[in-house]
Amino acid sequence: ADPFYSKRNPGTGGETHQRPSGEETVLTTQQGVPVADDQNSLKLGERGPTLLEDFHFREKIFHFDHERIPERVVHARGYGVHGTFTLNKSLAKYTTAQVLTEVGEATPMFVRFSTVAGNKGSFDLARDVRGFAAKFYTKQGNWDLVGNNIPVFFIQDAIKFPDLIHAAKPAPDREFPQAQTAHDNFWDFISLTPESMHMIMWVMSDRAIPRSYRFMEGFGVHSFRLINAKGASTFVKFHFKPRLGLQSVLWNEAVKINGSDPDFHRRDLWDAIEMGAPPEWDLGVQLFDEAFAERFEFDILDPTKIIPEEQVPVEIIGSFVLDGRVDNFFAETEQVAFCTQNVVPGIGFSNDPLLQGRNFSYLDTQLKRLGSPNFTHIPINAPRCPMHNHQQDGHMAMRNPRGRVNYEPNSWGVGPKEDPKTGYRHFAAAENGPKQQIRPESFADHYSQARQFFISQTPIEQKHIGDALVFELSKCLRPDIRERMVAHLANIHPDLAQTVAKGLGLKKLPKAHPAAVEPRTDLPPSEALSIVKR
Ligand code: HEM
Repeated sequence: ADPFYSKRNPGTGGETHQRPSGEETVLTTQQGVPVADDQNSLKLGERGPTLLEDFHFREKIFHFDHERIPERVVHARGYGVHGTFTLNKSLAKYTTAQVLTEVGEATPMFVRFSTVAGNKGSFDLARDVRGFAAKFYTKQGNWDLVGNNIPVFFIQDAIKFPDLIHAAKPAPDREFPQAQTAHDNFWDFISLTPESMHMIMWVMSDRAIPRSYRFMEGFGVHSFRLINAKGASTFVKFHFKPRLGLQSVLWNEAVKINGSDPDFHRRDLWDAIEMGAPPEWDLGVQLFDEAFAERFEFDILDPTKIIPEEQVPVEIIGSFVLDGRVDNFFAETEQVAFCTQNVVPGIGFSNDPLLQGRNFSYLDTQLKRLGSPNFTHIPINAPRCPMHNHQQDGHMAMRNPRGRVNYEPNSWGVGPKEDPKTGYRHFAAAENGPKQQIRPESFADHYSQARQFFISQTPIEQKHIGDALVFELSKCLRPDIRERMVAHLANIHPDLAQTVAKGLGLKKLPKAHPAAVEPRTDLPPSEALSIVKR
């Protein structure tokens, strides 16, 4: 078996005779024909034209011409590393997922950190959300937790995602700004989308300019379900907590770092692993039942809300270490395909409308990005457990069924079959109601948790939020958009609205934006929301 493929993906069918570069063997064409001259193309005479007959030259240029694949439509700039997850507390009472029940079991992982808005060549220290996507190669198949370093999101329904991203990415005529939140389109969309206000507090906070990936939290964001052997479900929110704690840079440091080393975060991670100081995170869960969901102030299906740790403490159940550099950036980091719908038996979905939309979007975009429905044949995406089905053909098919049978049931008595005992069962949620396009009343409060986040920050962190808003909105040229934003801030906290209005030089404080639900002022600060521990 080839070490390139077999090292990390034994038994996945990826073992070929392809050699990684760097080994001293004879150079061949893709067809395996040894090459005699790789320095000069075939020419007629000494100074004549290059001949079409030179198949090595044509194949080499043809392959080079096709090296690029589309970058990810979001999270284009990222950095991936291998690691291992070890469980130290069983959740057997709640789930049949072996990765969460077999204490001591080491599960291989691949994690990709990313920024969201910038293109593949943008700088690392943009003020942006960071992706924190984890693939667990479990014995029951691949489980992907496609998270961010912020526990809430801008929108409540996936149908708004294309608008959010169009507004955040460069404007279609001028193609700038490339990796900044600071522009009219972004703030226009945000100021017209009150549900984004909680997320905006996080994005304007120090969390959005982390010192390194090693000092970031990760969150699964949505409420997921755990399903136990009896078919009973418990809701769960997933948290990654960095053993090194949380650290950020100041904006003025970020600007300098971006100028002097746009690769700051990826270099930091590479160097930490090289130097033998691989970063570690604890995996924590917030577990809650329907009764809690009923009595909680907000809707547990609303991805713009957190569940404060004071109400449902985060239970640490295991940890992971990220200690493995990739052998090849493109093969692994660029081709890895995470998807929220990659779950294993014992883990299921809630009806969060953002999650439901994501479940479609990732698979769909990856067909475009990786070019074939067979992208699970790429070693980084292949499961490390046995995998058998009757799916076949398509571009680059490498695992077609062997022999005559490619369907089931069949009378030949061969081939893989479903297994009612160990197979994936969807949670039998009782659903009923009219088909309708509706936003529930329980999703209507957009300001209370934004306020709770703001008051949970230390004075210096609050100042950073005010400074960031003034800086960002000062790049926004339309006065009506600036005023509309300050009108939202007036619902979040009067001090913040004052500071930003003053910083922007507004003549008078705009009236608070009409709120569908009166913002609550009785929610206490939550200790876990501040980076600076008191
Ligand atoms: C990519 C997280 C919402 C569509 C990603 C990645 C992360 C992520 C971490 C990068 C994956 C990688 O490293 O390869 C999140 C989180 C969300 C969210 C935490 C909200 C809670 C959405 C929504 C949609 C969406 C609502 C669409 C309806 C995509 C797409 C990609 C992506 C198309 C590119 C995937 C690829 O090309 O492989 N997201 N996302 N995301 N996300 Fe999201």
